[in-house]
Amino acid sequence: CGIVGYTGSEQAKDILIGGLKRLEYRGYDSAGVALERGDGAGLDVFRRVGKVSGLESELEHLDLASTCGIGHTRWATHGRPSVANAHPHSSCDGRISIVHNGIIENFAELREELEGRGHRFTSDTDTEVFAHLIEEAYEGGNGKPGSHDLLAAVREACTHVIGAYGIAAICADEPGVIAVARKDSPIVIGQGATGCYVASDVIALIDATRDVVVLEDGQFARLTPEGVTYTDAEGALIEPAITHIDWDIDMAEKGGHPDFMIKEILEQPRVVRDTLVGRLTGTGELDIDELGLTYEELDLIDRVYVIACGTSYHAGLIANNLIEAWARIPCEVEAASEFRYRNPIITPTTLVVAVSQSGETADTLAAIRDARIKGAKVFGITNVVGSPVARESDGVIYTKANKEIAVASTKSFIGQVVSLTLLALLLAQVKGKMNTRQVKLLFHELGDTAEQIQWIFDTQQEAIHEAALACKDAHSALFVGRGMGAAISYEGALKLKEISYLHAEAYAAGEMKHGPIALIDPGFPVIAVTTKSPVYDKTVSNLKECEARGAKIIAVATEGDEDIKQIADHVIYIPPVRDAFSPITATVPLQLLAREVALMRGCDVDQPRNLAKSVTVE
Ligand code: G6P
Repeated sequence: CGIVGYTGSEQAKDILIGGLKRLEYRGYDSAGVALERGDGAGLDVFRRVGKVSGLESELEHLDLASTCGIGHTRWATHGRPSVANAHPHSSCDGRISIVHNGIIENFAELREELEGRGHRFTSDTDTEVFAHLIEEAYEGGNGKPGSHDLLAAVREACTHVIGAYGIAAICADEPGVIAVARKDSPIVIGQGATGCYVASDVIALIDATRDVVVLEDGQFARLTPEGVTYTDAEGALIEPAITHIDWDIDMAEKGGHPDFMIKEILEQPRVVRDTLVGRLTGTGELDIDELGLTYEELDLIDRVYVIACGTSYHAGLIANNLIEAWARIPCEVEAASEFRYRNPIITPTTLVVAVSQSGETADTLAAIRDARIKGAKVFGITNVVGSPVARESDGVIYTKANKEIAVASTKSFIGQVVSLTLLALLLAQVKGKMNTRQVKLLFHELGDTAEQIQWIFDTQQEAIHEAALACKDAHSALFVGRGMGAAISYEGALKLKEISYLHAEAYAAGEMKHGPIALIDPGFPVIAVTTKSPVYDKTVSNLKECEARGAKIIAVATEGDEDIKQIADHVIYIPPVRDAFSPITATVPLQLLAREVALMRGCDVDQPRNLAKSVTVE
């Protein structure tokens, strides 16, 4: 999602539309603006489903002299794309309007409380509670007098909210003022020649100024046409640091990174956190609001098929392991294009789990339809709210990766694995194979992977670079592992071949001796996932067989494992992690490795040849 805001001497409408267009590349399903009429007269709010250009045409012929307003492009996370769910969201009396990025974890409780106090809601979004909380703090309510100060009201509202937010608010009674708050969701502020700007991304204000304030968590800002004041959570004035942005537009779209792929890889800790937000209740129950199936229906499930294509299929391989190990339900994973042309055994107690980033892959959709006709229950795992996979499934978990632009999937994969892990935990809980204490423990460990991924970024770049140098001139590479390590290997090999055009093959390490080992000659790269697991020693034995034939071994191993250095030429470490969660961390260095090799070979990592981001033909 994207936020923009402007207050100054120029017409706000065109500036907001221009900013929203700059933000569009991040994904959108709807867009809107709120403009203040001035002199306390009120606010005009315009919202539309679809592209910003649609909103632009709607506003084109309107005489909107407003010089203060806020705008938003939405990528749905709560509630399907619709006008009612598009931002800005307004208070009951329509005098306060806000735009928000982030996720409010406790929105259900807050909404219930606010409704109890007479607030009427008009959307399914989590954001709307913010508008009502601000209204209450501004006008008075819930036993407290109103502050009649927009920024103070925003500050008060933030004390009730758990979750992530970057928000900008305007109020008809405070002409020219935009109040801004941030926690775990980016906000930048700048002052241009004609006024002040706020945005969720520098790209939206880079034309007006290159000197920006990157708001920090817990800081607030009050924009007026004349300037900006910054305050802390207590309302005390602060002096923020100014950052000079010297990126060009192309680089700014990529958040200052050279390509979308690295931007998206680096977002993965956030994806883990966002996918888990609000999923565990205080009592240790998993809370999947789009579940669509009752616990009774889930308890009857006696067979699971995971169907998907490409990278999503590899996420399925991991789910397969977890569902069988934890829920003890027979589970098969299959490419959607194969599944639909077989005659799989499907009964009303079969659960088909369809995994699709785009939610529109033709083979996956056809397989869902087929499975439903045969009576299966269908559960979707997708990144796109309201996508065909979401609409045609009984229940759905959204991966919260936000728009993925690079063709090779990275952050969506991590979102899929986290979501599938939640589903496996849920099935285990429903089937009575895990109690709430165990679920809670695993849930928190799952959340820890966000920091573990960050550790890889902070400490392993050099090791990954060295490993990439060792692969870049190869004609072929082999990825091997056992158990979870095998599943990770498949994804590692796919990443390498799709973006670097270097032939790569993945094999279960134990199967090597039945064929692929014939490929190995001196210097042949073997990338092995040898993280600590019950099959660690067995994998190492297989590597010894490769070493004896002169292979160049690159190991992804667990931090502290010094022994592996005896056989591996290069070691990339991941932090110690439970085997079940190792795919979330161990895949990350393989994504980085593939990208480095591709760059060394002069390839376009964002748009590899012959591939499309979503494949809507069979
Ligand atoms: C295409 C993309 C892959 C993706 C696959 C499945 O081949 O290039 O990155 O994994 O489709 O797409 P889906 O949207 O269904 O996950």
